[in-house]
Amino acid sequence: MEAASPRSISVYLDDDAEPLATYRSPATFQLDTTKIEDGEHRLRLHAVDALGTIGTRIVHFTVRNGPGITVTGLRDGSTVHGVLNIDINSFSGDEPFDPERAESHGPIPVWTWVMMAVVAAWAGWYGLEFFNTPAQFAATPTYASNLALAAANEPAAGDQAQKAPAYSGKGAAGGFDYEASGASGYAINCSSCHGAAGAGVPSTFPSLAGDPVVGASDPKQQIKIVLRGLHGKVIAGKTFAATMPSFSQLSDQALAAIIDHERTSWVNHSPTITPDDVRRAR
Ligand code: HEC
Repeated sequence: MEAASPRSISVYLDDDAEPLATYRSPATFQLDTTKIEDGEHRLRLHAVDALGTIGTRIVHFTVRNGPGITVTGLRDGSTVHGVLNIDINSFSGDEPFDPERAESHGPIPVWTWVMMAVVAAWAGWYGLEFFNTPAQFAATPTYASNLALAAANEPAAGDQAQKAPAYSGKGAAGGFDYEASGASGYAINCSSCHGAAGAGVPSTFPSLAGDPVVGASDPKQQIKIVLRGLHGKVIAGKTFAATMPSFSQLSDQALAAIIDHERTSWVNHSPTITPDDVRRAR
């Protein structure tokens, strides 16, 4: 059998025997809390269906029309000893916002400590990361000073050479990107005469693509020419009016990178050199 639909609903306050009112459901009613004493209350709702069966629903609520009161220094249910300093405060019930915390003394909330700890942890992490230079950025101005710092903390120079990753003539090693530096170093210092593709300018600047000095497996001559410059040499049956300038002002690393760029680009496939080879040739 289907349940009969509710007919009437009675509203009781607290333990009152008499209902505040009885309505036909559904209904809307007003509860004037100014007529009720401040404190905890409950609203009991009794609905009766056509067969006389009663359904009950209880809603607990707190009325606060008078001033609010805060107590700091004594918590509900706490165990205490000795003399207590207790702060008490009261505030108007018709404030637009509840100033319960704002106007009363209180301990610093836990979430404030947690946020401070998070910020401090982040700052620590940032500090550590700052000195953890990614290899590909090591030679950039932003990180170069870090590198100098890191180098100062390294043990002896001898150990350093031992620890440096093996240099293959390509890619990056020991925090220096030989491949990128070689290509850009060539573009900046050499390509104006020898051409971007190393082809030179006929009768004016010799081609480095397929050049026997660049192609030689012994790199000594090439290193020497780049360090000291060159003039008056007959190359592939030609003499050149222009002078090849010296590039000794560049670092061992930068020169090794440029020389390796020439030795491994275009048609050239010569064995690569290291910064040490340049250092020995100076
Ligand atoms: C101002 C123009 C100019 C620039 C810049 C220049 N060169 Fe040269 N280079 C020459 C000339 C000219 C010669 C040939 C000189 C001669 O034989 O009289 C030459 C010769 C060479 C040779 C020797 C080739 C051989 O067969 O003996 C090499 C290697 C070389 N240059 C590499 C470089 C590198 C590496 C750079 C950049 C770091 C560079 N050059 C920058 C003009 C230049």
